[in-house]
Amino acid sequence: MRRFLLLVHRVPPDGDFSLNDLASGGGRMDEVAQAVGAAFLVSNGIRRDTELDLLLLRDGGHGRRVHLVGERLRYLNPDERSTAALLKNALVRAAGHEGRTLEASPGVFVGPGTEEDLLAFVRQPGAFWAEEGGTPLRSASVGPEAAGVLGDVLDPTPRERELLLASGIPRVRLGPRSLRASQCVVLLQNELDLREEAAPGGARAPASPGPGPGTPRGGLPATA
Ligand SMILES: C[S@@+](CC[C@H](N)C(=O)[O-])C[C@H]1O[C@@H](n2cnc3c(N)ncnc32)[C@H](O)[C@@H]1O
Repeated sequence: MRRFLLLVHRVPPDGDFSLNDLASGGGRMDEVAQAVGAAFLVSNGIRRDTELDLLLLRDGGHGRRVHLVGERLRYLNPDERSTAALLKNALVRAAGHEGRTLEASPGVFVGPGTEEDLLAFVRQPGAFWAEEGGTPLRSASVGPEAAGVLGDVLDPTPRERELLLASGIPRVRLGPRSLRASQCVVLLQNELDLREEAAPGGARAPASPGPGPGTPRGGLPATA
């Protein structure tokens, strides 16, 4: 299973933002929606082996948690506006159900979010923190059970950072540049795909036919 937790810092936890203003009033919900798409969408499909937490901690360590489950997920489309609508709907519906978690739409669970959610996440097997100062991904032991923590448009707050450092989970660097969270998720999913493919008994891609007897250099079979 692949799990990601995105620390979401500026999106209004009650969903009180306009779909016409995702970047400003939506607290960069555009980027959060793109990260959701990056986590789950492949060409013509959804990654069923993936779960994503959006953790919206606010002052005092309380807020909202949106938990997306690939196995059940429906109504996720490639455009960020419709993804933002799915998430806004979840946040708005949670406002009337303080203190408990509900499934706002298939595969989209929403409920209270606390620091304990972050702590529980980093206690899972394969937990790591995507951080620019970490160990290069290519030499890091990530997957097949992977649970990666990322910041959204902002790095973790001082308090989140304190919790992450105290947890002792490895820090993993995805490259020399500071990347967008959604780009990080794409890179991680791809790296996990490659490692899964290369693992013994893994889902290897069919070997491409090399030029052999009767096969001209162009790769087309020779005709009799
Ligand atoms: C947009 S970045 C945060 C802001 C960024 N540190 C900056 O100064 O612009 C969002 C998150 O993506 C992840 N990230 C970005 N670049 C990364 C890298 N090269 N390696 C690992 N994680 C990275 C981190 O989790 C980071 O908190």
